[in-house]
Formats: sequence, structure tokens, C-alpha cells
Amino acid sequence: MNKRIISRNMTHADDKERMLAETLFSTANGYLGVRGCNEEGLPDGKNTCRGMYLNGVYEIIPMKQAESLFGLIEEKQTMINSGDLQTVYISIDGERMEYGKGTVLSEIRSLDMDKGISIREVRWRSESGKEIELRVKRMTSFVLKNLFILDMEVRSLNFEGDIAFEALHIAKANNYANPDDPRMAAEGNCYLEPQRIEALKDRSLSLTKTRVSGITVAIASAHECTAAGKKIDCVYNKEGEKVIYRAGCRLKENDTAVLTGYVVFADSLREEDPGASVMTMLDSAISNKSAYYYDAQEQYMAAFWDNADMEILGDEDSSLSACFNIYQLLQSAGTMKRSSIAAKGLSGEGYEGHYFWDTEMFLMPFFNLTDREVARSLISYRYDTLKEARENARLLGHKKGALYPWRTINGTECSGYYVSGTAAYHINGAIAYAICSYYDISGDIDFMMDKGEEILLETARLWRCAGSYYKDRFMLFDVTGPDEYTCMVNNNYYTNLCAAYNMERAAQIMEEITVIDGGRLMDKLSSSREELESLKEAAKKIYLPYDEELGINPQDDSFLQKPVWDIEATPKEEFPLLMHHHPLELYRYQVCKQADTVLAHFLFEDRVDAETRKKSFEYYEKITTHDSSLSRCVFAIAAARLGEKKKALSYFGDSVKMDLMNLQGNTGDGIHTANMGGSYMAIVYGFAGLTIRRDELSLDPFVPDSWKGYRFRFKKGDSRIEVCVLTDEVTVTLLDGPELSIKVWGEDHLLKADSPLKLHQKK
Ligand code: BGC
Repeated sequence: MNKRIISRNMTHADDKERMLAETLFSTANGYLGVRGCNEEGLPDGKNTCRGMYLNGVYEIIPMKQAESLFGLIEEKQTMINSGDLQTVYISIDGERMEYGKGTVLSEIRSLDMDKGISIREVRWRSESGKEIELRVKRMTSFVLKNLFILDMEVRSLNFEGDIAFEALHIAKANNYANPDDPRMAAEGNCYLEPQRIEALKDRSLSLTKTRVSGITVAIASAHECTAAGKKIDCVYNKEGEKVIYRAGCRLKENDTAVLTGYVVFADSLREEDPGASVMTMLDSAISNKSAYYYDAQEQYMAAFWDNADMEILGDEDSSLSACFNIYQLLQSAGTMKRSSIAAKGLSGEGYEGHYFWDTEMFLMPFFNLTDREVARSLISYRYDTLKEARENARLLGHKKGALYPWRTINGTECSGYYVSGTAAYHINGAIAYAICSYYDISGDIDFMMDKGEEILLETARLWRCAGSYYKDRFMLFDVTGPDEYTCMVNNNYYTNLCAAYNMERAAQIMEEITVIDGGRLMDKLSSSREELESLKEAAKKIYLPYDEELGINPQDDSFLQKPVWDIEATPKEEFPLLMHHHPLELYRYQVCKQADTVLAHFLFEDRVDAETRKKSFEYYEKITTHDSSLSRCVFAIAAARLGEKKKALSYFGDSVKMDLMNLQGNTGDGIHTANMGGSYMAIVYGFAGLTIRRDELSLDPFVPDSWKGYRFRFKKGDSRIEVCVLTDEVTVTLLDGPELSIKVWGEDHLLKADSPLKLHQKK
């Protein structure tokens, strides 16, 4: 495997590329995310989002509804920008390195995914002709998640002179806003009120608090500075609401000055006394020294890649992109109490840090297969917000069960437009599906007894309550499926299948548990055999729209009656359609923002015959705009599983490089985590044709044309497996754990230790 490093030449980068680089080179560890902004800042008026985010830390802000109908949400949570401690000014003999002043001779940025760091290397010439070489190394630590380290080395290339550092501690930072884009917040306020901002002898400290949600953020920073190997004295001063660290020294030609900044964050959601916690953590960070954390980070990354490694042979670019995507999933996954994965991870403010169904449907597959601890933690987040989900269900008039909010941070609904928000009940289905997959892959019945089954039962109850029988078929009215260009419909095929699956599995798993615990959990959750029977019955009698003439599953009851939107004739500038057409106009056409029925066919493949899947794929392909980033990856999986190899590769190509190439045009606002998880799934579930059920593990692999092959690793039960698919041979190796049976191209094999399964590639 080559080194996993992404690099960009930024020497002549324009503003858009800079904003993009802020996202691509952001560093995060699931708790703390730091956008990869220029340390020296940008002049006013330049588009930049100077963010430092703490997963799950939010403010509550009003969301005025034009008409105050009952139950509409009047406030929302928004992820706050917790501060700015990435600004460091460098001056040479009084001339400050500033964007647009002097000359950038070269600038390279890179992300080293083996080391878990990002690097920026700049050669800059001041207006008076003094040249420096600047090397900045950034890391948000995986071993101490509260810690961000910023290291700067400045070398004088052609002068002897005074060099000065000024590192800023800005506790009150503004959020980013774009009032013209519905995917961004419209308000760019600072949501933190200062409680205490101090310059201490050897460090800075701030305590700030959000006004409404009452969350305290504590930040402490300390610095070390050396020049030509000698320690330099420094001082912290408070200036207004900022603390500024200053250090200066004289540099000879070719000498290097090094500044290391340790920044520690804590918040009152996780720490009783965040102020005291940051001080203690900062003490230990300083005494351990940065080298300790860099080493530990590298070891952490080695262990991560050992479990999650993925490589595409014969397409270096896609291979690196696939690693980048996986790496971003790691960076985004919240494992601290009450956190999950935001749609943009911790790389930007798009969708305001909200958690959607993206986590369970697109991101959990990766963690279910490679890191159970993270998977459990993500499920636990939903468990911890069951109370809010129950309340949401009541608000919507359901007497029983839990309905998860469409978008949220703290567990309550944040969707202002319920039509393509709260009405998307399928989020319950995604959560249930992810939990069942966790169980099927891990066999962890203890976790199901502890948390999983309670969520399954509560979401199942919701379906049972929300739906009703008509002519002996169980139906669901007025819901919105994944395709948000078709809203508030009856019997959305995808939603109905999710509901049926949820009800059936909730009952089944409860029965399994009852055998083990003699009915204790059933009693605890006030369930009964009658209730389980009623869930199974509704699941069995679910109504699934089918059109005889076309041989496809219509997306919902009325979908096929609508005129077809002419995608071909729509000018390019009108995409995404949501930015140029009134929602009502879109709802009245057959036009899809993203995969809907096609996704259902992948998830519930064994409930649909291949012919229907194929015809449906062809039908929906023609009317899908992929305006949502969650779409192409699903089409890639579906095409691969239908044997449409060329199409699969083409969809995959767009999906795997979506953020690195800014294919959606808005990666500057943050990465598209769901697509990243989806591109992983396209390889594993698409090209390799992996299917995992409770007692089934099978592969149906092929190598896309133009590749030499690919390999990946995953875990089923306690067995860790590597799959290597080459053009002439497939090798499945049991890396560790018990032997197990596996089907490859429909044939059973026993996978044993020290005896890799080698099969000739199917022609
Ligand atoms: C998609 C949703 C998705 C959300 C956040 C929307 O554009 O239509 O399916 O959950 O973005 O990624």
C-alpha cells in the first residue's frame, strides 16, 4: 500500500479553492473539528469559514414559522463555532505575513492519513524581499480528543532579522452564514457569552456560555517557542475579549523558529467543571509533549487502517479517494456522550451540524463492519434520545412508539419545513435497519437486550400506530420517502418496506430475547405476545405498490400518474432543482432528487425479484437528478448488484471523488459524509456483492473494467476477514477469530485459519 497522503498545490489557488481546502484539510477526531484555514487569516470580505466545532455543542435559536399551526417547530439547534485558536500571525522585522501582501512563492497542503495530521508548506517573500519557509502541522488528537496541536516552523531563507509570533485565543467567534442557500444557516451570529477570559502567566483560558442552551465551553491554550534550538520567553496578554500570546526572537539566515500551540477544549455536556478539566488536560498535554501525541496518533491510525484498510488496484486516484472518505468517517464519528455524525461531520457548518438518517443508512455500515465500539456508540446516541423521540411521536398524534426527528443535535426536531423533514418517517426505518445490521454482523445479543431492542420496539410501535388497514393491507399515508422532490405521499414503497422490516425484526428479536431472559425485557417494555403478533401481522400485510404494466414498483400510490419532468431539456444552471424551482412544482412531476425505490431494492433485495429490480432501476435512473449527494452511491451499489458493471463504475467514480473534486460544488461548506459512507458501500456491497444476514455471509464479487482489483477488511462475529478480488482470482482470508462458512458466487466454503480461500475469478 502506498502512503495515504492527499496533497494540493495551493500556490495560485483562488477563493473558492481556499474555501474548499478549509474543508478538505480540516482535522477532526469525532469530538473536536478544526477547519483547515490559513493561520494568517484572510482579509475582510473574503469567503472563509474559520470554524472550530465540538460535536453536539449547540445553541437554540428561533425559527419563526410564517403561520403558527399546532406543533410546528419554532426553534432549532445550531452547532456553534466554539472559538478561533488557529490564527497565528508571523512578522519579519515588523512586516506581517498577510494574504495578498508580498508573494506566495509556493504553497502545498496535504493530509497525511497514516499519521493523522495535516500539513501546510509555504514559501513566502515579504514586500521587502525577505523569504521564509513555513511548515505548519496540525493534529486533533485521537488519544486525547479534547486536544488540538498546531506546530509552526519558520525558517529564514535569505535574511537575518527579528521574527515575531502572535497566537490568538478568540473565545467569541461568529458562525458562518449564507442566507441564499437553504442548506446553510441564514444567521451568522456569535452564540457564546463570555464568562471568563484570562491571560495567565503561562497560558490563556476562556469560559463562555451559550445563552439559551446553557452549554459552557472552556478553552485553554499554552505555547512553546524555540529559535535555533533555544527556548524563547513569551507573554500572554488580554486585549478586549481576546488573549494574545506573543513571542519573538532574532533569526539568522537558515535558522528555524518553532512554535507549538496546545489547545484544549471541554464542554459542560461532557464535563462537570469544564474549566478545571481543560487546565488539567492542558497540564498533561504540556508535560507529555507534542511528540508523544504525534506518535500515539500514528499508532492509532495504524490500528485503524489494520481494521478498515481498503485498496483499489489499478486506479491509484480512486484508491486514495476511497481512503480519504473512510478517514473522514473516522474524523466525523462522535463517540462522546450525546453525539453522532453530522451531515458534514466536523468539517463545516452546512446543515448546521445536524444529524440525519445519513448516520444510520450510510455511515453505520462502515462502522458495523469495522469498528463495533463506534457502531454501539452511534446506536447509544439514539437510545439516549428515545425520550425526545417518544415526545415527538406524541406531538404528531401517535399514542404509542417513538418517532425520531428528521434533523437534530439534542434529540428534538430541527426541521422547519415538515413536508420534507418531519414527514420523513423513514428515519425510524434507517435506525431500525442499522441496529438489525449491527446485530446480524456482530451477534451481540447483550447489546440488543440492553439498548437495541428497546429502540426497535419503540420504532415498530410507531409504524403500527401510524399505519392502518384498508382492504386487509397495511398502509401508511402522508409520509415523505428519501426522494425529497416527491413529498407527503401515500404508501411510499421505500417507507412501507422499512416499516415492515422494522416491525417484523422487532418482534422476532424480542422472541429470541424472551427465550434467553424468560420475558423480562418484554415485561420491562410493557410488551406482550399479542403486541408482537400484531406487529408481525402488519409487516406481513404491508401494502407495496406494484405496476403490472411497467413491471416496476412505483415510488408511491400516485407517482406514475404524474407527468415526467424533462431532465434533458432542463438547462444545466437549473440544477440542483431545489434552488430554482418551487417545491410544489417539483412535487407534481416524476422527478427524483435521489434514490428511493432503488435504495429499497438494495436493502430488501430478497423481497423483490431481479426482473422488477432491473426494470425499476432503469425507470428511476431516467428521472433521477442526483441533486442529493446521497444518490449516486446507491445507484452504484444497485447497478453493481444487477451486473451493470459499466454503470456501477461510472456512478462510483462520481461518488468516490465527490468531495476531493468538489463535484456537488459545495464541499467548501463541509464534506458529504453520507456519500463517503456510500462510496465505501459501493465497493463492499456493490462490487464485492457482500450480503450479511444473521446466519449468512456471502460474496458475489467482480472487478470493474479498468481496475486490476481491490481489497478490504471487515469483521463478522469475532472473525476478521480480508477479501482480495483480482481479475483472475479471489482470495478470502481469515485474519483472526473463529472459522466460519461463507458463500462465494452461491457456493458454500469453510473459511479456516491459515488456509486462505482461493477461487478463480468467474469469467
Ligand atoms: C438529502 C437528505 C439528507 C440531507 C443531509 C438532503 O439533501 O435529501 O436525504 O439526509 O441532505 O445530508
